[in-house]
Amino acid sequence: MSMRDRNYHTTMDPKKTDGKHLENMSKAMNKAREYIILLMTYFLYKLIRFVVLTFQKFTWAVTGVERTRKDAKSGLMFKQSAHVQHIFWRRKLITSTVSDPTDFITTHKYFKHPNYVLKPTVSLYCITKEEAVFVELNEKVNLYRLDSNNNVELFYAKQFENAHSLITMPLACFHKIAQDLGKPKIPIICISSTGHCGATLLCRVLGQLPGMIVVNEPDAFTSLAFLNKSNVFGKGEYEQLLPSAMRLLCKPDDRAGIFLVKTRPCCTCQMEDIYRYFPQMYQIFVYRNSLKTVSSSLNIFAKEPITMVGKYFIDNKILSTIFPCFRWTLYRYFCQVLARENDSTEAKAFSSVGIFTLAWAANVSRCLDHVDSRVPLIPVLYEDMMKSPRKTCAVLFDILELRPEYIATAMEGFRITTNNTVQSSGTAMSDSRKSIPHEFRTEADAILKRYGLPKLGERFEIPGVLDFETNKFNRMTRDRIF
Ligand SMILES: *[C@@H]1O[C@H](CO)[C@@H](O)[C@H](O)[C@H]1NC(C)=O
Ligand SMILES: *[C@@H]1O[C@H](CO)[C@@H](O)[C@H](O)[C@H]1NC(C)=O
Ligand SMILES: *[C@@H]1O[C@H](CO)[C@@H](O)[C@H](O)[C@H]1NC(C)=O
Ligand SMILES: *[C@@H]1O[C@H](CO)[C@@H](O)[C@H](O)[C@H]1NC(C)=O
Repeated sequence: MSMRDRNYHTTMDPKKTDGKHLENMSKAMNKAREYIILLMTYFLYKLIRFVVLTFQKFTWAVTGVERTRKDAKSGLMFKQSAHVQHIFWRRKLITSTVSDPTDFITTHKYFKHPNYVLKPTVSLYCITKEEAVFVELNEKVNLYRLDSNNNVELFYAKQFENAHSLITMPLACFHKIAQDLGKPKIPIICISSTGHCGATLLCRVLGQLPGMIVVNEPDAFTSLAFLNKSNVFGKGEYEQLLPSAMRLLCKPDDRAGIFLVKTRPCCTCQMEDIYRYFPQMYQIFVYRNSLKTVSSSLNIFAKEPITMVGKYFIDNKILSTIFPCFRWTLYRYFCQVLARENDSTEAKAFSSVGIFTLAWAANVSRCLDHVDSRVPLIPVLYEDMMKSPRKTCAVLFDILELRPEYIATAMEGFRITTNNTVQSSGTAMSDSRKSIPHEFRTEADAILKRYGLPKLGERFEIPGVLDFETNKFNRMTRDRIF
């Protein structure tokens, strides 16, 4: 990721743009070709998936597979309710989209007892309206630890890339298994964040500890947040699914001494529910200066060609009027889950800066709601966290009740980053508000004002935000929390 960021910034360097014009053009052509191939494979994938599914309807009916699935669903065949399927093709158009069973084309393998999903190589992938979806990976894939360069990889991406089998089971069986598991027996630290704010860095720092199992962005919670938002669940169903998902994600594991679960940004809405079901869990909320976050969010457009085209459509007044779907898609993806009901009508007029500002405001204001509801969360401001890694670790270790002898180990996590992602995107981005055109800035300030937040780029402290300078304050926080 950092490599790509760097490439992007080098091309933005004014000194180099002139000389590299031709080279850039040929690069762009190559990209365009790459993209067309990508798009065509994707459509081919969709087509084949459709054909296979149609064909499967017949074969599964004839061979009795469908019958077993139906019985499992109606609760008749609990012992055969885990449907293990072989994955023979996988495809996603944009890698960061929320996990979904349609990412795969599968064929029937066999039915198993639902306890099958307790195997260490099986992990929860996502949840749909009717089923819990698991994937099975090769033993060699290191799903729960940092990679050899100490990078924190995405849980959902590792699952998607490495899965060889897909396991589905009806939600009733899923709950049964979760209930039998009981509450997680070892401590869990849960990190929610706005995204683009150093939460991954924090994962890397804590992930240095021996026995720390890192689950960085599991899509079980993300899919639940999206499903709940679109109101597909009956009353009380969502409330049951959340704890079941947590129990299965943090299922007993010989290697685990403590779990670190970092959710995707939209899961901020779940902090209160998580507190209700797992009051003993530590919940951290990481955020960052609004201007820095928005600038960093804008960088995502530079990553994949399809998004670059998208940004052009979004920020061009005429094009965005003719094709409102681009703005709508961006809004839907980044704001919808957390934004207020009436925001969507206005979002049609927002530029990309406006939409990302709204996303930040919605995230932070959701966290403020939790603080108001007395959820004992631990707010961490990225800028404060970066001032002194040593103090940060000391304070965090104290609050999370981790053994202080590992502080030096944890600080390794900071050291690596100093040369890596966060720093590079931090220096490449201009710090001043001027980096954002005046008209977009005004728009952003108006949005923030509506949420009762200070102007773009001004410091905002969530009540109870960790103060890494004075220890007195932290003691207080801790007493208040536990
Ligand atoms: C805020 O929340 C949304 C989910 O509604 C998320 O997708 C987005 O990335 C979050 N953060 C930022 C900085 O936009
Ligand atoms: C889930 O959906 C219900 C009904 O729309 C809503 O009241 C509740 O706040 C939602 N929960 C979360 C965590 O978004
Ligand atoms: C949107 O809703 C909030 C409260 O939910 C309200 O304060 C605000 O005025 C509304 N905005 C519009 C444009 O309706
Ligand atoms: C970080 O960069 C400095 C100099 O820029 C270098 O001396 C150091 O070895 C680098 N650290 C890592 C972990 O690459």
